[in-house]
Amino acid sequence: MFKCKITKKKIPQIINFGKMPIANGFLNKKDFKKEFFYNMGVSFSKDVSLMQLNNHPKPEMMFNANYPFFTSSSKFMKNHFKNYANWAKRKYVKTDNTKIIEIGSNDGTFLKNFKKKNFQHLGFEPSKNVSEIAKKNGINSITKFFNRTNLITFDKFVNKTDLIFGANVVCHIPDLLEFILTCDLALNENGKIIFEEPYLGSMYKKVSYDQIYDEHIYMFSISSIKKIFNIFDFQLIDVFPQNTHGGSMRYVLGRKKTNVNKKINKWLEIEKKENIDNISGALEFKKNCELSKEKLQYKLNNIKKKGKLICGYGATSKSTTILNYCNIDSKIIDCIFDTTPNKIGKYSPGMHIPIIDYKYFSKRFYKYAFLFAWNHKKEIEEKEVSYLKKGGKWITHL
Ligand code: SAH
Ligand code: TYD
Repeated sequence: MFKCKITKKKIPQIINFGKMPIANGFLNKKDFKKEFFYNMGVSFSKDVSLMQLNNHPKPEMMFNANYPFFTSSSKFMKNHFKNYANWAKRKYVKTDNTKIIEIGSNDGTFLKNFKKKNFQHLGFEPSKNVSEIAKKNGINSITKFFNRTNLITFDKFVNKTDLIFGANVVCHIPDLLEFILTCDLALNENGKIIFEEPYLGSMYKKVSYDQIYDEHIYMFSISSIKKIFNIFDFQLIDVFPQNTHGGSMRYVLGRKKTNVNKKINKWLEIEKKENIDNISGALEFKKNCELSKEKLQYKLNNIKKKGKLICGYGATSKSTTILNYCNIDSKIIDCIFDTTPNKIGKYSPGMHIPIIDYKYFSKRFYKYAFLFAWNHKKEIEEKEVSYLKKGGKWITHL
């Protein structure tokens, strides 16, 4: 039994993915011997309908000066964040001089859209290298974690913030209660919290268990967000499904007096019917993960038996879960092509598959390419149109 991070009650483990390294811990050969591992198990709290990691490395081990994820590495995501900003401006910006905060603002891709006179913005971004890029682009990026201690030094934003934004970051924050208290301290009476995160329902449907890794401490659903924020002076007032990262959900929260969109009740009914709000869905997911692992190992072994070469495409953090859970090393996948300068020339966490500059993908031929960045399928297939023509085959675990 494990302790729920929200209720502190004992909750059962659902699935154990085994020994895992830091998902974004791409490393040099000389560091193989001192690589850090932890046991990655997942449990489910029925009280708050929340899937969560049992153990995880300390946030400072993951979010530091060498964080290798850059929001701007995907054109599609850059466009998504522009649309997200425009949508929020139309729907939620009512006054001039609106004060906004973004959590996990990374290289400033989202906040860039608010660099206008009628906004005052602040980005909390603890990973120094990406925060510095944002600063160079004129973003007020604070190289710190979002918590009450760090917030109170920005007087202008205490009790006066209109909107707090986030994307793919709230699920990274182990102390969710401290996160909500910090939002409470920052927001004014009509303030709203708007964030989008990978959606539990989409993960169940696709059996995309690779959404689970050290940074993703929580896998949220509408039911879980509603229950957790209800503990405080907040309520879920609206939701908007997104097609990013394989299926995400955007949540809008306001103080308890705010009007609630009735469509939330429909969503809650769907989550009940599909067992997303209770433990049965999680237990079904466990079975599906085990099946998926068997099928993938069988598929890859068959390809190797035929003497064909396999490479990977997209050295995602998600790939760390697939490779380590399914025990796939460089004997099966020769290398992984990627665009990120901080990953190229290094090796994948745990399984130590070499990461190679994506520009060589079209120069070398691998009959099979495992698309680890499956959520960027369209963008990548457009970039690598000649691969299929040459007889190459994209494969995934999905
Ligand atoms: N929002 C961006 C980046 C997501 S990656 C996008 O969707 O592309 C998650 C980011 O959140 C990382 O840049 C990480 O450094 C940052 N982060 C992690 N914990 C945080 C915290 N407690 N407060 C603020 N940012 C955090
Ligand atoms: P993403 O799924 O956003 O990341 P993660 O699972 O780590 O959260 O994928 C980002 C990775 O994919 C990053 O290493 C860059 C790589 N990538 C490419 O190599 N080519 C591309 O065209 C895109 C969009 C991403």
